[in-house]
Amino acid sequence: MKIQIAPSILSADFSCLRDEIRKVAIAGADMLHIDVMDGHFVPNITIGPAVVKDIRKVTKLPLDVHLMIENPQDYVDSFVKAGADMITFHIETISAPKLRALSSKLKAKGIKVGISLNPPTPLAKVKSVLKFVDFVLVMSVNPGFGGQEFIPSAIPKIKKLRAIFKGDIAVDGGINEVNAGKVIQAGANILAAGSYIFKSNNCKEAIRRLRCQI
Ligand code: DX5
Ligand code: ZN
Repeated sequence: MKIQIAPSILSADFSCLRDEIRKVAIAGADMLHIDVMDGHFVPNITIGPAVVKDIRKVTKLPLDVHLMIENPQDYVDSFVKAGADMITFHIETISAPKLRALSSKLKAKGIKVGISLNPPTPLAKVKSVLKFVDFVLVMSVNPGFGGQEFIPSAIPKIKKLRAIFKGDIAVDGGINEVNAGKVIQAGANILAAGSYIFKSNNCKEAIRRLRCQI
């Protein structure tokens, strides 16, 4: 599987977001990871649909919207309207029947659907929904903030998931050149990375290093 890199704009400089997005696009990003936080499901507040709509105007990169919010079903339409290409729900925030219904609606519109699970959430929780989703996003930090340290238990989780799931496996949180090879070897093929890419002084090299760790 081709390794895809998804820079997380949470670590970008928001005072010049357009330039930051162009910078990672030119550097070879495959998509843009957008962290949506509501201050309830996670202890931080970030980006809403209005910002996604404006980001849509300045890039052709697929927009990968990671919903770290309660009641995601109430907000999903506004992110679709804003131009999301991929939407990730957290299994901690949605029931399997609701996800199934939303997923068929979104897929009919050509949007890719992902399910994410926090580090303490066992893989068993997502097993019944794997058939409804295009990808699984394995969290390798407790969500809420960029720049946290990678939690190594994500690696066996990815391995177990790869044995039962043929779709894309994304990993998110604390990804850098030290652990990228390990998560790829375990079976991940999409790497979301914020601080490692945006805080480096050479984005192109940072993206290349993440992609080539194997
Ligand atoms: C964490 C977010 C991540 C975060 C990644 O809650 O979902 O996408 O921005 O940032 P780094 O790579 O700095 O951990
Ligand atoms: Zn994220």
